[in-house]
Amino acid sequence: MKKVLIVHYSQTGQLSDIVEAIAAPLRANADIAVDSVAIRPLTAYPFPWPFWRFFNTFPETVYEQADPIEPPAIDPDADYDLVILAYQVWFLSPSLPTIAFLESDAAKRVLKDKPVITVIGCRNMWLMAQEVMKEKLKALGARLIDNVVLTDSAHSAFTFVSTPAWMLTGKRGPFLNGLIPAAGILPHDIEGCARFGVAIADQLPNRPAGADNPMLSGLGAVKVNKDLIDSEKIAKRSFKLWGALLRALGPPSSFFRQLVLFLYVIFLIVLILTVVPLTAILKKLLSPLTRAAVARQRAYFAAPSGE
Ligand SMILES: Cc1cc2nc3c(=O)[nH]c(=O)nc-3n(C[C@H](O)[C@H](O)[C@H](O)COP(=O)(O)O)c2cc1C
Repeated sequence: MKKVLIVHYSQTGQLSDIVEAIAAPLRANADIAVDSVAIRPLTAYPFPWPFWRFFNTFPETVYEQADPIEPPAIDPDADYDLVILAYQVWFLSPSLPTIAFLESDAAKRVLKDKPVITVIGCRNMWLMAQEVMKEKLKALGARLIDNVVLTDSAHSAFTFVSTPAWMLTGKRGPFLNGLIPAAGILPHDIEGCARFGVAIADQLPNRPAGADNPMLSGLGAVKVNKDLIDSEKIAKRSFKLWGALLRALGPPSSFFRQLVLFLYVIFLIVLILTVVPLTAILKKLLSPLTRAAVARQRAYFAAPSGE
């Protein structure tokens, strides 16, 4: 009997649906036992998010300073053959509840020397968050063997409006009389995650302990948008810089910090509306010169499962 632990957190239920689609074929297999544990912050993050609370969360998120969570309900003596860790991206970093889990004693115990599959459900910018995840898993002694990523399939220009609208109002849309499609990952894409569960269920029962090869290659587990690689790197650097400044100004409740945050939000909107399309245009112009380097970057970010 192989034992699988699934750890997840979701505000809207989107990531829980993804996790369920993957877990169902595992549960249906008599040779696999599945434990599913939801991360529970001691004080729940709000949903929908109040406007300022949403933006005011970014400095602590990029500096990975998480609020405490309830001790995860994981059997201290359990020895899992596979851990599936599902998380969403907040400000190009793993969400704070996910960080809190990775820093918990339970994670130290349960992830050491274990193969891990990460599952991400987000708008479309996940590369920098997964870099943080890779480092944290390595520090815990875990082995990342696969990464599954689901993103919003609508155009970036639409999701730039629809994702914050969803987060701030709780309404998915469509918005503006259908001009902007509903936010979130398509139900069809979520249902399609069953293929990952089937692949794991097929391989896990006979997989040797200590195997590091991916189980989800060739299944389209990730798709790297090459136009977002540089934008993410630039935006992450900007988040770190402004995040440090805002944190130096005081705790989230400080008036002065909120004032500077207001300026930052305007700067951020201008940054996204300019840097993202500008880097995309620049990259297109330079593409004959950068093709090989971009292909290398794509392969790097698509690892370990591959596109
Ligand atoms: C505070 C916050 C910041 C977010 N930042 C990002 C981001 O940087 N990149 C991204 O692709 N999605 C981002 N999102 C969207 C989430 O990754 C995710 O799609 C959404 O929160 C729904 O997930 P859930 O309901 O499963 O928790 C953010 C959401 C929140 C609440």
